[in-house]
Amino acid sequence: MYSKEFEQIIQFRRSNRSFDPNTEVPEAVITKSLERAVLSPNSSNMQLWEFYWIHSNSELEKFVPLCLGQQAAKTAKEMVVFVTRKDKWKSRAKWNQEKIKSTIVGEPGKLQKGGLDYYGKVMPLLYSNDGIGVMSTIRRSISFVMGLRKPFFRTGGVANQRIMVHKSCALAAQTFMLSIAAEGFHSCPMEGFDEMRVKRALKLPRGAEINMIISVGKGTEEGIWGPRFRLPNEEVIFKR
Ligand SMILES: Cc1cc2nc3c(=O)[nH]c(=O)nc-3n(C[C@H](O)[C@H](O)[C@H](O)COP(=O)(O)O)c2cc1C
Repeated sequence: MYSKEFEQIIQFRRSNRSFDPNTEVPEAVITKSLERAVLSPNSSNMQLWEFYWIHSNSELEKFVPLCLGQQAAKTAKEMVVFVTRKDKWKSRAKWNQEKIKSTIVGEPGKLQKGGLDYYGKVMPLLYSNDGIGVMSTIRRSISFVMGLRKPFFRTGGVANQRIMVHKSCALAAQTFMLSIAAEGFHSCPMEGFDEMRVKRALKLPRGAEINMIISVGKGTEEGIWGPRFRLPNEEVIFKR
């Protein structure tokens, strides 16, 4: 349906590391792109993410050394920090339950009951931690026993939880970058930053993690560092 336009957006999006100093990005472009990012698919609709838009010149300047002085940060007109919030699982599970409850008229239906159970029982099982690894062992044991006879969702420790939230957050980051491209602007995702200092600058608690930082601006030719090399499709795409 939108294949041609989508192809154009995909081809247009490149990581650009040098933005035009004379072209501002309209605020509406960032707002719209963030609003599109929140529509990204995410694990159990828990939305364990936050997006910090770095807009003022003084804040942007502060972030240049935090992004290790990268050119993409130095020349950025806007930046967005994509943050995972695994620590907010309780309130997000409750929020989902409230949303389901708001759809109930009279007695809850089967889907609504299932949803309430899912957020009331499955999410605590997946996300709760006790600091000494008891919950991780319980999860690993359940996965092992249940997985003996049939396929079962394998999970266990904190690493699994971190992977879950980072997957979803990265999808939001991708939606954001594609939207920026669709609006005719350029971006550069960065994982080259000092996470500890970024968290401190944003006053984030221990449970939050930085997924990536995306700088935005009007790209320049010198901001493209070379042709877009990719491995041959046969090496990475397999059909069974
Ligand atoms: C998670 C992630 C982290 C990245 N970190 C950086 C970075 O710190 N600095 C940078 O210049 N580019 C960074 N990049 C951009 C990649 O180098 C780039 O996407 C890749 O070379 C492919 O080029 P393309 O985006 O133009 O298609 C990052 C990309 C991703 C997805």
